[in-house]
Amino acid sequence: MVTPPEISKQVEELRRELDRHNHLYYVLDQPEISDADYDRLFTELKQLEQRYPELQSPDSPTQRVGAEPLESFTQVRHPLPMLSLANARNEQELEDWHNRVDKLLVETGLKSESAAFVVEPKIDGLAISLIYENGSLVRGSTRGNGEIGEDVTANLRTIHAIPLILRLERDEQPPAVLEVRGEVYLPLAAFQRYNEERAAAGESTFANPRNAAAGSVRQLDPRIAARRPLSIWCYQVGYTEGLELKSHSQALDWLTAHGFKVNPLIERYEDFTAVIDACRAWEERRAELDYDIDGAVVKVDSYSMHDTLGVVGRDPRWAVAYKFAPSTAVTHLLKIGINVGRTGALNPYAVMEPVEVGGVTVSQATLHNEDDIRRKDIREGDWVVIQRAGDVIPQVVGPVIQKRSGSEREFRLPDICPSCGSHTVRPEGEVVVRCPNRSCPSQIVESIKHFVSKGAMDIEGVGERLVERLFSLGQIKNMADLYSLQKEELVGLELSLSINKKGKSVPNRLQEKSVNKMFAALADSKARPFHRVLFALGIRHVGSINARLLAVHFRIIDNLMSAAAEEISEVEGIGPVIAEAVRDYFAEAHNLETIERLRQAGLQLEMAADEEETPKPLAGKTFVLTGTMTSMGRSEAKEKIEALGGKVSGSVGKGTDFLVAGENPGSKLRKAEELKKKILSEDDFLGMVSK
Ligand code: IVH
Repeated sequence: MVTPPEISKQVEELRRELDRHNHLYYVLDQPEISDADYDRLFTELKQLEQRYPELQSPDSPTQRVGAEPLESFTQVRHPLPMLSLANARNEQELEDWHNRVDKLLVETGLKSESAAFVVEPKIDGLAISLIYENGSLVRGSTRGNGEIGEDVTANLRTIHAIPLILRLERDEQPPAVLEVRGEVYLPLAAFQRYNEERAAAGESTFANPRNAAAGSVRQLDPRIAARRPLSIWCYQVGYTEGLELKSHSQALDWLTAHGFKVNPLIERYEDFTAVIDACRAWEERRAELDYDIDGAVVKVDSYSMHDTLGVVGRDPRWAVAYKFAPSTAVTHLLKIGINVGRTGALNPYAVMEPVEVGGVTVSQATLHNEDDIRRKDIREGDWVVIQRAGDVIPQVVGPVIQKRSGSEREFRLPDICPSCGSHTVRPEGEVVVRCPNRSCPSQIVESIKHFVSKGAMDIEGVGERLVERLFSLGQIKNMADLYSLQKEELVGLELSLSINKKGKSVPNRLQEKSVNKMFAALADSKARPFHRVLFALGIRHVGSINARLLAVHFRIIDNLMSAAAEEISEVEGIGPVIAEAVRDYFAEAHNLETIERLRQAGLQLEMAADEEETPKPLAGKTFVLTGTMTSMGRSEAKEKIEALGGKVSGSVGKGTDFLVAGENPGSKLRKAEELKKKILSEDDFLGMVSK
């Protein structure tokens, strides 16, 4: 069959339009349309491609969803070796590098041109190479040993910030071959969310964003990669045919203009003192960034100077990595404590002498599991290296063996649960040791904490400490009991003891005001949508995403409760392990009883009719309000934002997306400017919420 020409044209236009919005959203971070509108265009294209299979193309935006799993990766040789970088550990070594560069350039007579430099962040992710032929992405590979890497094209295609086709001007010819290099990374916020989800579902977590990114790119099922919100910073043009560039800064500009994501904070400097200042500025900015960097890279700008300077071993002489002071420290591991999580997992953690790492005092760190402790040979009483990356929980890297005295004690998880005394079990093939007792007090307390937590029922005013206290007093025995608490029993409740000025211990009591707040929050929580309730129940493997999938499919909890495991695992995105966990949960009489009581309390156990259809164009966006608005009050503005799926926060930080500045804005405006956040005037804001 011949495809009607108007269809080919329509498909082409849809692809161009989707690419443009993809670029606006993922590369420039300036979306023009809502997710729902994007989805509509996407579906339209997908349907046309299904109807006219001859029009399918690997360049199509529909190809980003993740192809079929591979058996193994094939190896590919890089057209030019992927080099590494020499390090400068301090400013003196950076000066030394500059002096060597200068000297070599003078010797070869090039110095009359005077070297300029580009300073970039050194991204802590996974180096990759992308090959474009005649403007289309044909291959993506890992660095490997620098000469030969692995072909991970299918995974890289799922990264929206990587263009599948170059953005060309009208009539512009693409280079015959173009190699672009960059670093794939997982944004810190996404990393944290992802790990929290996994922990909430009782699954193992990644040690740091770098491992998470590398693990996602180097795994055989592209559909898994597609689910991780990976991104990229491009930092180099490698091999080319049909493209002449004269300098690195020109290459970066070319990449930006052709749709690649190049860090907008990268700058070119003519003067080396400015280079050193820029490196310092990167170090200071480090904690505010949404990605991990472990240094700044200084590169000579001119390509002809690169040729003159050449390479020693694996390191080009024209670039150097200025490494930041490491966020690691050495301290004494006093003991290994154990938490019993809500799924019964015995989680070991390190109790350490407090020490400062990367500007924060740390006295506890996670130790993952027993195997990890054994593999790293960490013993109680050891001196240990600990590490922080970005905002992430501190990790114990390993012991300092030389400092051992011989009195250190090897660690073994106990055979009995430290909370309830039940014999622990370690299911075959799992690294986690569990307490099998469903009525284990620790498990119950942790599950109630999960229930009230922010991502779940979000019951403000019922914090972790209060949950512990109410549980130990016998006021609550499970999550449903929260809804039968009586005000009178709570006001004046002794929470903790503190020492007054005279050295006497006085009880801190729960005040009436806090109790009122708590009851208001409990009442509010009854409006949380079904999928949040489902997540809050704390069923193993059912994180917030799975909870939503199940809620959308089954619509009413009773349908899910009566579904067979096979039926549950038929839901797109839900596998047999999750289905089994759901079955196990509903097989327990006390869980059914809890659900009945939650139903009585008035919680949402079915999808609201309009829930799916309501577009949430501001979903995932966080707003901060400052100054006075003339057209509406703060609470009205807040309602509008929340109705469209956005969130309002009280202070400007890394997670802020927009600052709405009314009249007489306060210090938040300055902070937002410093952090280069998007600032909306009242008019901009009205335009956004009324659209
Ligand atoms: S340039 C000679 N620029 O650092 C060119 N590398 O130690 C080498 N990296 O394998 C690459 N950010 O994974 C360059 N802005 C940046 C970088 C960067 C991170 C990584 C890259 C490379 C390693 C070299």
